[in-house]
Amino acid sequence: MDTWSYSILGFDPARAALDGSRFLCANGYMGLRGAPEEAGRELYPAVTLAGVYDQYRDKWREPVNAPHALFARTSFNGKEYALGAEPHEAHRCGLDYRHGVYCRETDFGPVTVRSERFASLPLCHLLADRYQVTAHEDGEVVIRCGISTDIWDINGPHLFDFRLDEGEVLTARAVTGQKGILVAVSQYVQRDFDAEERQVQDETGVFRLLHCPVKKGQILTLDIFAAVYTSLDVLDPLERCAEVRHLTGYEALKTQHAAAWEGVWRRSEIQIEGDDEAARALHASQYHLNCVAPRHALSMSIPARGLSGQTYKGAIFWDSEIFFFPMFVHTQPGVARSLLRYRIETLPGALKKAAEYGYRGAFYAWESQEGGEEGCTNFNVVDVFTHRPVRTYFRDKQIHISADIVYALRQYYEITGDRTLLEEGGAEVILQCARFYLSRANAHLDTGDVDFADVIGPDEYHERVTNNAFTNRMIRHCVESALGLKQIFADDPGMMDGLMKKLDYEKDWALLSRMYGRIRAPQTRDSVIEQFDGYFRLEDCSLQTVRGRLCDPKEYWGGDHGVAGTTEIIKQADVIAMLALFPEDFSDADVRANWAYYEPRTEHGSSLSACMYALTACRIGRLEEAWQLFMKTASIDIVGGGKQWAGEIYIGGTHPASNGGAWMIAALGFAGLRMRSGVPEVHPRLPRQLKRLTFPVTAGEKRYVIDVRRTESGETEYSVTEMG
Ligand code: BGC
Repeated sequence: MDTWSYSILGFDPARAALDGSRFLCANGYMGLRGAPEEAGRELYPAVTLAGVYDQYRDKWREPVNAPHALFARTSFNGKEYALGAEPHEAHRCGLDYRHGVYCRETDFGPVTVRSERFASLPLCHLLADRYQVTAHEDGEVVIRCGISTDIWDINGPHLFDFRLDEGEVLTARAVTGQKGILVAVSQYVQRDFDAEERQVQDETGVFRLLHCPVKKGQILTLDIFAAVYTSLDVLDPLERCAEVRHLTGYEALKTQHAAAWEGVWRRSEIQIEGDDEAARALHASQYHLNCVAPRHALSMSIPARGLSGQTYKGAIFWDSEIFFFPMFVHTQPGVARSLLRYRIETLPGALKKAAEYGYRGAFYAWESQEGGEEGCTNFNVVDVFTHRPVRTYFRDKQIHISADIVYALRQYYEITGDRTLLEEGGAEVILQCARFYLSRANAHLDTGDVDFADVIGPDEYHERVTNNAFTNRMIRHCVESALGLKQIFADDPGMMDGLMKKLDYEKDWALLSRMYGRIRAPQTRDSVIEQFDGYFRLEDCSLQTVRGRLCDPKEYWGGDHGVAGTTEIIKQADVIAMLALFPEDFSDADVRANWAYYEPRTEHGSSLSACMYALTACRIGRLEEAWQLFMKTASIDIVGGGKQWAGEIYIGGTHPASNGGAWMIAALGFAGLRMRSGVPEVHPRLPRQLKRLTFPVTAGEKRYVIDVRRTESGETEYSVTEMG
């Protein structure tokens, strides 16, 4: 079995949304969905741009899809061939995870269309496609290729004032409706056949029509190159787009692209022996996370659905810090740094949001867009019965987000030993987040205990609860991190003094010192931690019972009337996420008790859930369950798992949080990787399905290879080798 690729046979338009995501090519700057070249919007083609957002009227703000400059459609003897519209004899498409190359082959009868394409990793503004037509009869082939402005948007349109230009290079430029960001794309071709070329434009774009008489068996090869720039990147996007004609040929670009991917794998690949399905799932998973990494930008984060489209509003959630960040900080710290710089640069947005709610300090957006702007609306779900929007409180109450960011900032410092990020704004973020919690706290006058009331934890089905165990623990960590800064800067007291003055922080510091230690610890019952105050008083029933109460499969389980709200059934890992993030706080017996209690009560309704359960399962030796959860997590973007709907809202796409989760289970769970004073240690828990696990880790300037293997006699051996 080839563990580096995945392909499917046959074409089913009903699967188009899913296939667009699972065959995604991306390079951090943009995502090219895995739709066939000839696709119209009914097959959801898109080139989704990272960090470019727009709002149309009162619809949701979402990322902008650029015009599609790899559009190509073939006609033979006057008849047009397009998947979805015309019957075909056979179709196959696939993705090579090692080099990020998509390919398809469709036999339409008289002609076969074959293509191979990629979003260049080293040249992030470039898309390239080798498009080949094989004639099975004598006749005339016409290839219509160019820039399609017939853009698929969920909440669009976003682009206006199109200007299309013909020429050696075709170009299209338009501006976004809300902020007037200029988006330009160009298309240039090289071909190995003589053709009569005409150019046309209409309301769907600007195209070349390449007419070519063919003989039976003849193969026409057309190399299509597309460039994409916006006015956020460069002063003159159109001029830069025109440079596409100076590129070296397809083969050279592909070689360069493949070499860049080899570099990514050298730094991050987890090799697995013992189970090919698992090895492939892990390659898929690591591919999908690596391909959306913002390597081209010093300050950028990754949306919850990567660059696979506009679902989840292209927004940045806690997924970034808690789920994507670990793989990057252990393998490609430059990317981890970019994710955190995004938070540092969006601090003003977080300060503004806190102030809007009447608090001080930094309350980060739950769904963060550019500038830290809050993308989360008050009505995030649509009721399937009334079709009315349902008021949800994610943006107002999911306050753990600020502490999650602090958690990653501290990890970055502890793992890389690099203090500069703290110096360049990270320390300020930590202090402002701690200040937010100070102003958000409810202190009891009698006891001095501190509650956090009216919050939402990771389990979103229970809204507006008090003392969510996860949230309180994260806040304590945040406060501890703020108070720990003086220690970190002990050799440079001027730096802390300056910051304290700048932020007028003396009084808050004293209050924080008092608050730390008083933040309410959770209640426990037989070692089981109560998820929030009163959770144990809710109806204790099975997942099946709750599921049985649904009147519609797309019904939302949370909110005021959701079926889960009055029960102990939870959406995703919550207490268990806390156990996974703070392993030192809890004994194995605690983990055992909580795992046994919460797992059966968890719907795993979020793709973020399984990996937290798997990580904790490794610790307590529930390796069979850990393995199942690992497979579920790692293969999500192959099988197309995860929920597709929240109420009436489509939420499909790729799942970078699961992708990051798969890395965590393999490295932190199965291998038991821990960093101690900048040096990796391992405490392996190999499930029986695995014979060997090998992967690189970067720590500061040093690189290590971790190797964990099972011997013939069934014992586990391991080594940690520093690379020269
Ligand atoms: C989950 C959140 C997550 C978001 C984006 C929601 O369904 O409950 O925890 O951040 O999806 O992945």
